[in-house]
Amino acid sequence: MVYYIVYCIIFMVRGGIMNNLRRFIMYQILFALLFIVTSFLSACSSESNPAGDSGLTDISQGEPDSGNEDAGVEDIGTFQSRLTRYPYITYRGNNSFTLFWETDHDETGYIRLDDKLYKVPPTKLSIKVGADLKTRTIYQYSAKFDMLPEDRKITYEILSLKTPLKSSFSSRSTNNDFVFAVYGDNRSGAPYLDENPTHKEVTSLIAKYEPEFVINTGDIVYAGGLEGEWYQFFNDGATLFRKAALFVAIGNHESGGYDIFNRQFDFPNGEKFYYSFDWGNSHFIVLCLDCGISPENEQYKWLKEDIETADSNPDVKHLFVSFHEPPYTFSTHAPNMDARNYIVPLLKTTRTRLVVNGHNHTYEHIFKDSIHYLVSGGGGAPLYPEKEIKYEEGETPYMVKYQMVFNFSIVHVSNNSINVKTFDNNNQLIEEFNITEE
Ligand SMILES: [Fe+2]
Repeated sequence: MVYYIVYCIIFMVRGGIMNNLRRFIMYQILFALLFIVTSFLSACSSESNPAGDSGLTDISQGEPDSGNEDAGVEDIGTFQSRLTRYPYITYRGNNSFTLFWETDHDETGYIRLDDKLYKVPPTKLSIKVGADLKTRTIYQYSAKFDMLPEDRKITYEILSLKTPLKSSFSSRSTNNDFVFAVYGDNRSGAPYLDENPTHKEVTSLIAKYEPEFVINTGDIVYAGGLEGEWYQFFNDGATLFRKAALFVAIGNHESGGYDIFNRQFDFPNGEKFYYSFDWGNSHFIVLCLDCGISPENEQYKWLKEDIETADSNPDVKHLFVSFHEPPYTFSTHAPNMDARNYIVPLLKTTRTRLVVNGHNHTYEHIFKDSIHYLVSGGGGAPLYPEKEIKYEEGETPYMVKYQMVFNFSIVHVSNNSINVKTFDNNNQLIEEFNITEE
């Protein structure tokens, strides 16, 4: 463009505009054509970059098998950055993942994923943390990777740190044998402030089972409006979250901090807090009860269409649903009647067999209308006792198990079968059951 402007000035000064008008127009057309061709080639080059338009730059050195994997490392120099938040993985659907981490220095981020090296620009943020809500400047990195290969461990190394960190995570499984974990109500943040040891304990135990992903049933922090509380959550669960994609159902304790919540995650339905995804032969739906649900609203219409589409898909063998407040419970907080009146009828008319909720800080297993409902709310917040169970006259009792204990569940999907094991925070089995689809 600069050359073009300079040329025009020289052209007009030397020859005069009117005398050379025909040549002038001809050259303008030639420049326009040249501009279109170079723009097209540039767009093609961008599409061939596996990082797509995610803001990452592929700076791989040589072919993956050329034996000079480290060739790029010398070029990127040394770094002063220290992690202020350990890396964690979220899944956006379509085999695409986002890896987040955060540091204390304004340095360009570099991450090696398998054999390729990517550059990640930081986002500078000022946040209030700690008991005294002191303002601190941090640098957040979100590396988006699109269309990763399925059914394998993806290795990565964050190089732009004073001490580089290496780990791996599971890409989306397409086979029908996989493991995921469920827990919730860790409720990090106040009054624990520095750390929640039970949450740390529970997530460390879950990590030993090597789930491909983990679902948190909500009430992740104590006060969603305080950004600092998320540090405790991510850092207590760092051993797990760096290896398994994290999905969360928003809880009532996250209300009042939706902007902050939104900044922590990158889920499959854009900025909506309700979403679904496929993994192996199963379809997973995560809902936002705090967003409200009734037959007139957007979330309900989305759910109805999503669950009915999945239910009629012959490739989907199992349907799993998660939301925070349970439709059935016999603990401190009463059942959520919107969930019972509007969500449950949709579950009953489909092949949904397992629903995981939280809100009450305990473990409950309820079996009603061929659906297993788990209250998985023992991730670290103070525990709640069981209430006296009163069934309506003529109603079949449907409480299977109640145990006031910190807990997590490991779910193993294997073709037509689902095996659910729930453990306490000493890794002792407290319940096991199987669901088999014909
Ligand atoms: Fe709750």
